[in-house]
Amino acid sequence: MARVFSGIQPSGEMHIGNWLGAIKNYVALQDGNDCLYCVVDQHAITGAYDAASLTRRTQEMAIGLLAAGVDPSRAVLFVQSHVPQHATLAWLLATIAPLGELERMTQFKDKSDRLESIPAGLLTYPILMAADILLYRAERVPVGEDQLQHLELTREIARRWNATFAADAAYLPEPQPILSPARRIIGLDGQAKMSKSLGNTIGVMESPEEIWQKLRPAMTDPARVLRTDPGTPEVCNVYALHKHFSPPEVVEEVAANCRSAGWGCIDCKKVLAANMASTLAPMRERGLALASRPAEVAQVLGDGARTARTMAAETLAEVSDRMGFLPEAK
Ligand code: AMP
Ligand code: TRP
Repeated sequence: MARVFSGIQPSGEMHIGNWLGAIKNYVALQDGNDCLYCVVDQHAITGAYDAASLTRRTQEMAIGLLAAGVDPSRAVLFVQSHVPQHATLAWLLATIAPLGELERMTQFKDKSDRLESIPAGLLTYPILMAADILLYRAERVPVGEDQLQHLELTREIARRWNATFAADAAYLPEPQPILSPARRIIGLDGQAKMSKSLGNTIGVMESPEEIWQKLRPAMTDPARVLRTDPGTPEVCNVYALHKHFSPPEVVEEVAANCRSAGWGCIDCKKVLAANMASTLAPMRERGLALASRPAEVAQVLGDGARTARTMAAETLAEVSDRMGFLPEAK
């Protein structure tokens, strides 16, 4: 049994990029592994945010994870801020994390480029992520491709900490990523990574009508201007999405009809919208049902936090001891 940890920010709805890139793996890994999944609310405050909606979004993200199939009887599901050891370990690790590496992180550069005043938390974000993972001494981390650089830094931090404080034992394991075949889903603009902050997403809880309203204007093969122009499926993001939502024979039919201009882009999108809606329908139903039982969701998160705190306290005690902190008298 390997220890698995992953986190997702409650900075908006769970979208199909999250689901295909990471969450499906969260669910699959529950078989035969020891899994912890965390709604990382403290990461979600590194950009401008609205305090009142953070509460709601945290609940919604927990519901999304449960609806997607995270099973509290097989995995520990909890909220990051309920386990204070994350922030404490992040501080300890900040004293060994290399500043130059933090400044080189692509996500930091992208996000800080758009800001006039850069909060220090945006720079130290990957240290908190390293703390999330190392606090549970996790060996495997299901994520999308965009997190590989952060995970590499986590390994670097673990190596440095071990070299300084646990040369004998390599107490903190170096975690390995687990990628899905959909490691980078492109957004509806057909250009950038699907991302909450870019507004190019489809949410996993959206209704068939909402899915259609979003897919209808989605970017396709830019060279296909007229209905009668033959298209190139390989450059079309709608075709790429078919591969994740439509059965193989339909994917072939889509490609053939695109190349021959037998179908227009709207015909192709209608098929995708129907298949996407039916794939997501069970999740949507479970999500709506859970939303009407908030006490049950709160209970799951409460149980998860208690389990996580016990595990976290054990690691933090060992780390603190090795770093030379005076233990409190019993
Ligand atoms: P976030 O919403 O940034 O907290 O991401 C949660 C998880 O979804 C992380 O493992 C990301 O790597 C993954 N993810 C986010 N966007 C995408 C995408 N467009 N394609 C694939 N994976 C993604
Ligand atoms: N940084 C991750 C993201 O934006 C979220 C995250 C926080 C995470 N802590 C983590 C992912 C620990 C994996 C493991 O997607």
